[in-house]
Parts: sequence; structure tokens; C-alpha cells
Amino acid sequence: MERIPLAIIGSGGMGTRHLFGLAELERAGLNPFDLVAVCDIDGARAEALAGEAESRLGRRPRTGTSLADAVHLGAAAVDITTVPQFHHTLAAEAISLGLDVMVEKPVGLTIAAAQQLADQVSGTDRVLSVAENFRRDPTNRLVKALVDGGVLGDPRYFHQSSGGGGNLMAISMWRHMKDESGILFDAGTHYTDMMEYYLGPVTSVYAQMRLFEKTRYNPAATGGAPASNPGGVYGQSQAAMPAQFEATAEDALYAMANFASGAIGQYAENRAEHGRTSWARSVHGSAGAVEIPKDRSGEPLVLTLESTRTYTGAEILPLVPDFQLDDVTAALFGGPQATAYGKDFETVDRLLLAVEYAEFGQAIDSRSKPEVGLEEGLRAIALCYAMMESGAAGGTIVTVDDVLNGTVREYQRSIDAAIGIDA
Ligand SMILES: NC(=O)c1ccc[n+]([C@@H]2O[C@H](COP(=O)([O-])OP(=O)(O)OC[C@H]3O[C@@H](n4cnc5c(N)ncnc54)[C@H](O)[C@@H]3O)[C@@H](O)[C@H]2O)c1
Repeated sequence: MERIPLAIIGSGGMGTRHLFGLAELERAGLNPFDLVAVCDIDGARAEALAGEAESRLGRRPRTGTSLADAVHLGAAAVDITTVPQFHHTLAAEAISLGLDVMVEKPVGLTIAAAQQLADQVSGTDRVLSVAENFRRDPTNRLVKALVDGGVLGDPRYFHQSSGGGGNLMAISMWRHMKDESGILFDAGTHYTDMMEYYLGPVTSVYAQMRLFEKTRYNPAATGGAPASNPGGVYGQSQAAMPAQFEATAEDALYAMANFASGAIGQYAENRAEHGRTSWARSVHGSAGAVEIPKDRSGEPLVLTLESTRTYTGAEILPLVPDFQLDDVTAALFGGPQATAYGKDFETVDRLLLAVEYAEFGQAIDSRSKPEVGLEEGLRAIALCYAMMESGAAGGTIVTVDDVLNGTVREYQRSIDAAIGIDA
């Protein structure tokens, strides 16, 4: 098969991590792409990523600063890894130019933004894949198999509670700015995708939301260690950000959710937690419960059935004999029933991004719908905004449908205005 000419648009942290994923695919002999261009509005970043690509892929892509440059340099597909506020316009422009698109989550910074993209995609045969990686972790595939295979019985309850960060900047300044995607939305769209991936659609929510830490601190600006540095590629950009700044986006969200199935969800995300970093996620059913480690952590699942028998890690596999990973995940992780257990964050991160690229290539080749497309991407942001809209309104019950159809959008109104949407 001829390789698909690809450009990465956005050469920051995630653009770099995507390249690491592409290199894993290349190493496995499964790369359907030819990386012809890397672009960024900051030309120096594009140059740096081109150098990284040369050392990992053996070929140096050309560089540019815009989508138009990528097209000029021969791209037929683009991977959009810019900051969120440009996802919908860049993806829509690419689709209108006849390109196939993979775009990082969130598919749009607001529902109105994502709907504008939906209007552009409608009626075309272009592929639009949303790069949602968490569900592709073999550990999460196994949770889904436990739920679907009835091992947990009838699903009754989803629980997730995570916290940390204190008053430090979370990776980058834009993750604390409401108009650019605060941290609750940035992290939350992963988690809402996971909620619906495991247990199906959520119908309604209610929530409380807070901005606890109004001033955020960035130690990397004054020579300190980066506040957070996932994938090890953010330290340099953090050094150029202010040492302290005022946050405009909330940093804590506490919600209850109703699933269409009748199950209940409880969700707490405290990005202003002091003293410790916390994590708990579990799914509970009429026959047992499974404790789920942090995505990409490489930690094992712990399953308890009838309060007595506990199964850890590989002991779970015989309970789901039909569990089978897709071919690419199997090849990269080490077999059709492989797990990520024991692998570190960087390794799992790269391998999951490799899987995303492989699926994007397959979707282009067969003109098929990717696993996470516009609809799934929209639902993930709608559920996240349903919680945030409820929290901003003081705890009213909000339906996901009302957020999706734009009836409830008070919280998003100022964001829409900031990104030029007059909805
Ligand atoms: N799936 C994941 O696990 C994961 C992890 C981190 C980030 N992300 C997502 O990836 C995206 C990027 O995040 P990041 O951490 O890499 O941010 P970042 O700030 O490190 O990088 C963003 C880059 O986009 C560039 N850029 C901005 N506007 C542009 C434009 N119009 N055209 C071209 N380049 C432009 C910036 O100059 C910057 O280099 C976000 O949507 C974020 O939510 C996903």
C-alpha cells in the first residue's frame, strides 16, 4: 500500500508525543503514513519537531506555519495537535480542502464550535478521527470486556475521584484559562469519554464547581523543576511561561451522573488538592466491582467478586475468555490478550498514540468510521460541559441532550464569544 502523506499541525507537547507514537508504528513495520510536513505558528517549534522526526523516522519532514503550508507540502491527511481553541476551524478547513483529519481531543472548545465542524463534515466522505487515547489502553479494553461480558453483573455504579496539583500550573498556562480550556475541561473530556465507553450514555447530571486556587505558580520559569512534565517534552515551554498568573478557569468539580441504563456515576476532579495526589476509579455491579488504575499507569486491575474472591492482573483473563485486542494493539503490546501492566507512562503513552495512528490509516484506507469520531467526541465534551454548566448554575439538573442541542450553554457563552462564535 502506498503511504499516506501526513502533516502534524501543532508541534508542542502533544505534537511531539504523537511523533513518538508514529515512530513506534514505524518500528513495528505498521506505519501507513509518510510524514511529509510538521507545522506550528511558532516556526522554531516546527523545526525542532522536524529534527526529532529525522532522528526517529530517518527522514526529515518539511516545515511550515499553517495548514495551507501543509497542503502545499503535499499532505493528504493532517493530525491536528494545536491548542484546543483552533481544533474546529483547522479541522473544518482541512475537510473543506479534501483532507482526512485526526484531531486531538477536545473536538471543539465548545459545543457550538464542534457543531460548526459537524456542519462541515456532514455529507463528505472525509475521515474525522478524534484522538482519544485513554479507552485504547489494554487495561480499559479489559474493563469494557468485564462489563460487556457480565462478569460484574448488572452495572450499578461508576466512581472516579482524582486530585492533585495544589497551586502549581498544570502543564501549561492555557490549562487555567477559561477561554482557552481550563483543566477541568481538558482532563474531563477524557474521563467523560471513559464513563460512556464503559457504561453507555449519561442522560443527566448535577454538580458543584469551584475555583480554589486563583493564583497559579510555575516553578520552571525561575529555574525550578517543571510543575508537571508528562512525556518529558513540556519543560522547555514552561520555562518561557510566567512564574505566576491569575487563573480564570475553575479547578474543582464534584458531580453525580445518571446513566441511561439506570446506573449512577459519581465524579470528583480536584486539581487544587494539596498534600497528596489521589486517584480512584471503579465500576460496581450486582456481582462484583473492579478497581481501575490511572490510565497509562501500567498498574493492574483488581476485581472482587461476591466480596470474597479477588483477582489481580492476569488472573482476570480466564473470566473473559473471548477478550481479544485488535491486531495493532496486540502487535504493539505483545499479544491478543496482552496488558499494559508493568510498562511506564511514557511507553504506554507512545504505544496508544501509535494505535490511534494505525486506526486513522485503516479508516482512510477503507473509508470507514473510526472508533472515536465526531459523535463520540461531541458526546465527551457535552457530558463534560453538562457537569460544568450545572456547577456554574449552582447545581441544577442538566441533561446531556440540552447541552448537545445548545439549550443549555450559559457557561460556554463567554468562551464562544472569545473564539468568535456568535451562536
Ligand atoms: N490525549 C492526550 O493524552 C493529551 C495529552 C496532552 C494534550 N492533549 C491535547 O493536545 C492538544 C495540544 O496540547 P499540548 O499539551 O500539546 O499543548 P502545547 O501548548 O504544548 O502545544 C500546542 C502547540 O500548538 C501550536 N499552535 C497554536 N495555534 C496553532 C495554529 N493555529 N496552527 C498551528 N499551530 C498552532 C502552539 O504554538 C503550540 O506549539 C490539546 O488539545 C490537548 O488537550 C491530549
